[in-house]
Amino acid sequence: MPEIIDLGAYGPDFVADPHPYYAKLRAQGPVHRVRAPEMEPEFPQAWLIVGYDEARAVLADNRFAKDWSRANGSLADSEVLAEWQLMNMLDADPPQHTRLRKLVAREFTTRRVEALRPRVQQITDELLDAMLAAPDGRADLVEALAFPLPMTVICELLGVPDIERDTFRAWSNELVSPTDNEATMTAAREMAAYLDGLIESKRSSPGEDLLSALVRTSDEDGDQLSRQELLGMAFLLLVAGHETTVNLISNGVRALLQHPAQLAALRADPSLLDNAVEEMLRYDGPVETATWRFTAEPVGIGGVEIPAGEIVLVGLAGADRDPERFEAPDTFDITRETRGHVAFGHGIHFCLGAPLARVEGRIAVRTLLDRCPDLALDTAPEALTWRAGMTIRGPQHLPVRWR
Ligand code: HEM
Repeated sequence: MPEIIDLGAYGPDFVADPHPYYAKLRAQGPVHRVRAPEMEPEFPQAWLIVGYDEARAVLADNRFAKDWSRANGSLADSEVLAEWQLMNMLDADPPQHTRLRKLVAREFTTRRVEALRPRVQQITDELLDAMLAAPDGRADLVEALAFPLPMTVICELLGVPDIERDTFRAWSNELVSPTDNEATMTAAREMAAYLDGLIESKRSSPGEDLLSALVRTSDEDGDQLSRQELLGMAFLLLVAGHETTVNLISNGVRALLQHPAQLAALRADPSLLDNAVEEMLRYDGPVETATWRFTAEPVGIGGVEIPAGEIVLVGLAGADRDPERFEAPDTFDITRETRGHVAFGHGIHFCLGAPLARVEGRIAVRTLLDRCPDLALDTAPEALTWRAGMTIRGPQHLPVRWR
C-alpha cells in the first residue's frame, strides 16, 4: 500500500492555490492515496486521481460506482444518507441512473435552455445596473453578479418563489461546504421538507416551470418520477445551479483581470468569447474534485491497485492541468485548443446543466466587459479568500473597481 499523503498538512496555501500541489503529485504519478482536509475521522483515506487519462478512464468506468451503499463500513450507512439523497441521480448507478437521467432529459432540453437566453441577459443587465450605481465605483463581483445570476436563473427555471431564496442559499452552502455534521443534517432536513411542499404545490397547481414539467413527465412506457425521486432531482438541480456557475464567473473574471494581455485580446476580438469561457473552465474550473466514487471491486488504475469499497476522488483541476494533455497547462490562453477539458466531468454523469452554464457564463462575461471598460481587481490577488474543501473552487469575494 502506498503511504497516505495528508493534503490537510499543506495548510491554507493548498486551498488558495491547489494547482502547484497537484502538479507535484502528478510528477510522481497519476494516482495517490490521500487524506483530504474535509474528511471525517471515520473515513480515513481516499484515492486521488491527478492524471488526465486516468481521470477520464475512472469517470467512464462503472466499477467506480456512485451508490454510497457500495462504500466501505460506516460510510455505507452514514446518517447523512437520507432516503431522498439516494434517489438523486448523481448518487446513482445504472440502471437507476439511466432511468432518472432519461426522465429529466425529456424536460431539461436545449430548447428550454435556449428560451432562457433573453431572460439571462435581462437579469444580467439588471444586476449590472445595480452594481454600477455604486458611488465609489467598487463592488464584490460575487455578491453583485456571479452568485445572484445563476441563483435567480435556477430558481426561476424550477419555479422556486423569490421569498425563499436567501434561506435556500444558506442550506445549499451548508450542504456543499459543510461547517459541522449537525448543521449539515439540519440543512438537509429543512431543505427536503421545503422541497416536498413545493413539489406538492406544483402537483396541485402546475406552472410553466421545469419542476411542474418533471412532476407531470412520463416516458413512452409510462415510467414516472416517484415523490422521493422528484425530491432528489429538485435538490440536485438547485444545489448544482447554486454552487457552480458562480465560480465559473468569478474564477473566469479573476483569470482575465490577472492576465491583461488576454483581457485585451478578448476585448479586441469578441469572437474569442466562447473559447475564452472554455479556457476559464479548463484553467480554474468551479469543480476542483468530482463527487465521491467507490470501487465496486478491486481496480488497477495508473499502476496502482485500489481495493474494493474505497473512496476515489477524481481531481478535475489536476487533470485539466496535465502537461501530457494540454501544452503549457499553467498558462491561461484564451486562444488555445480547449477541447476535451473535464470541467463538466465525463461519461454518464457529464454535467446535465453544461449548456445552461455556458449561456450564463458567456452572457455574464461579455456584458460585464462591455459595460466596464476599466474593470480591474480591487485587491491584491494574495488577499482573496477561498471556499473551503476540495469540491468547489472559487473565491468567497471578488472585489473589483471600474473607475
Ligand atoms: C460552470 C458550471 C458547472 C460546472 C463546472 C458543473 C460541473 C459538473 C460536474 C463536474 C459534474 C459531474 C460530477 C461527477 O461526475 O462527480 C456535474 C454533474 C451535474 N450537473 Fe453540473 N456543473 C455546472 C453547472 C450546472 C448547472 C447550472 C446545473 C443545473 C441546472 C447542473 C446540473 C448538473 C447535474 C444534474 C449533474 C448530474 C448529472 C448526472 O449524474 O448524470 N450543473 N456538473
